[in-house]
This record gives sequence, C-alpha cells and structure tokens, in this order.
Amino acid sequence: MFDTALAWLREPQQQLQAALRWAAVQTLRAGKLPKHVAFIMDGNRRFARQRHIARIAGHSAGFDKLKETLQWCLDLDIRIVSVYAFSIENFNRSKEEVDALMQLALEKFETLLDESEVLHQHQVSVRIVGNMDLLPEALQRVLGKVVYETRAYTKAILNVCFAYTARDDITTAANRILTALDEGRIQSWLISVYLLEYYHPVWFTKVLWPDFGFYDMLECIVAYQRAAPVVSRLRAQQFAVEQQGLRVRLNALLAQLGGEGDGRSSPFEAGTRQSEKVAALEEEQRYRVQTYVRALREAAMARYATLAAAYD
Ligand code: FPP
Ligand code: MG
Repeated sequence: MFDTALAWLREPQQQLQAALRWAAVQTLRAGKLPKHVAFIMDGNRRFARQRHIARIAGHSAGFDKLKETLQWCLDLDIRIVSVYAFSIENFNRSKEEVDALMQLALEKFETLLDESEVLHQHQVSVRIVGNMDLLPEALQRVLGKVVYETRAYTKAILNVCFAYTARDDITTAANRILTALDEGRIQSWLISVYLLEYYHPVWFTKVLWPDFGFYDMLECIVAYQRAAPVVSRLRAQQFAVEQQGLRVRLNALLAQLGGEGDGRSSPFEAGTRQSEKVAALEEEQRYRVQTYVRALREAAMARYATLAAAYD
C-alpha cells in the first residue's frame, strides 16, 4: 500500500528525468557526435571495496553498466562502440579472480545468446579484438557463436577487446604486415597511409566504471565536441602530409620503373601521364590492401564458424 503511494510520487520524478535526458540528447545530437566511442571499464574492484561487496560482484556491476552504456550510445546514434574488457596483463591477477572473470564472461555471453533479440533488433555485429587462444575453450566457443551469428549486421558494431594488449596487437599487426610484404600483397610505402590511424582524443574521468552515469557520458561527448574542430584540422594536415609523402614515393617508384615519359612529349603531357599513372598505382594498391584485409577477415570468420559449430 505504502509502496504504491511512493511509486505514484516517484513516477513524475522519473518522467522529468527522462524528459531532461531526452532534451540533453537532442541538444548534443545537434552538434558533431563521435562515430566510434571506446570505453575502458576501470574501477570495478574499487567500487566493490567501497560497497563492501565481493570483487566479482564489482565486475558483475561493471558488466551491467556496459549494457546500460550501450543503450545510451544507441540513443545518441553512436553506432560503433569498443569496450576494453580484459587485457593480457589481467592474467597476472590471482587465479581465483581470473577464473571468476572468465566464468562471469561465459555466463554473460551465454545470456546474451539466449536473449539475442536485442542484437538482432538493433542489427549489432559483435567482434572480438585480442588473442582468443588465451581464453578457456568454452568461452572461445560462446564468443565464436556470438560473432558468427551477428557477422552480417552493419547497423552497429560492438568490439569487445578480450585478451588484448597494445604490445600484442602491434606485434600481431606487424607480423601480418610483414607476411603480406613477403607475399608481395602490399608494398612498404602503403603501411603508414592506409593501415594506421592518428589522433584519437581520450577522455579521463575519475568516476569508477560501475558508477559511470548518463551525464558522465554526456560530459565526454561535450569534451569531444569542443575538441572536434582542432582534431579535424590536425587530421586534415596529417592527411595532406601523408598524401604528399605518398606521391613523392610513388613518383620515385615510377622513375625507377622508367615511367618518366619518352622525352619527346611536352613537360605538360609528361606531367599529365605521370599523374594518371600515380592515380592508377594508388588505385591498384588500395585494391590490394582491401583484398588483403578481406582475406584476413575471411580467415578469422572461418575460425568463428568452427567455434560456433562446436558451441551448438
Ligand atoms: C577493470 O577494473 C575491469 C576488468 C579488468 C574486468 C572487466 C570485466 C567485466 C566488466 C566483465 C566482463 C565483461 C565482458 C564484456 C564480458 P579493475 O578490476 O581494474 O578495478 P580497479 O581499477 O578498481 O582495481
Ligand atoms: Mg584497474
């Protein structure tokens, strides 16, 4: 009885909160929004300590917060989200904590599969970034199943960084690039231009991940909106520098191949032919990179298919 009366009081307050959120989202949507947001879910154990609850309960609260945050991203029309779930360094934690985290991840991904309508409804493609070999086999299978089931979706992407480290990622990427170079699939002057990205603005908050709230997220977006003009100017400058460098290297390559012209045509004609050749070479290399990246993706997907079949 008393509860019902309180609910009546609570309701207008909740409606007001929802209206305020809606207004805040609309205001931010009028400005430039990031296409891709990455979250480092840090602070789960401190959160647990503060509340005198078990460590794993802190991690579980962290997972619940992730679900909530993904909904906010959808509201803001941010369609690509990456989450740093578990780094390779995290394996140095006590066996008890690592085992509990792996078990938690297994349970959460199994639940996600059982309630996969939400992924299908929003057409979310889930991807795993990291070295899956380091994870327990049962977890690999369920991850494989989620990735494989959602592989065709393109409306939204959720990258779960699981068993990652920057060093491991760079080593793996460098090894793949070296193999591609050895196999003649790509050429060295392409690497910086097409395979690496620059200037990712990072926002640090003191808030522990499970305490992260809707307005903390808006604060990050406002910081992004403030930084956006500077970042795009820097990107444009960097792009111009890279294009210039690429052209210099392409021209050198053409000269090496004897593509400077026959010496009889006018400098203008030679220049035109030169730029056409440069454009053709660029196009060819872009095609090679795309083919190479597609082959990598297909190989990874074949593995997910095997894992998914083993899950069923
Ligand atoms: C960092 O907080 C959090 C982790 C190392 C684990 C995060 C894992 C989850 C939220 C559950 C699984 C998630 C998915 C997506 C399957 P911390 O432990 O470093 O806490 P602290 O900084 O307070 O010590
Ligand atoms: Mg931490």
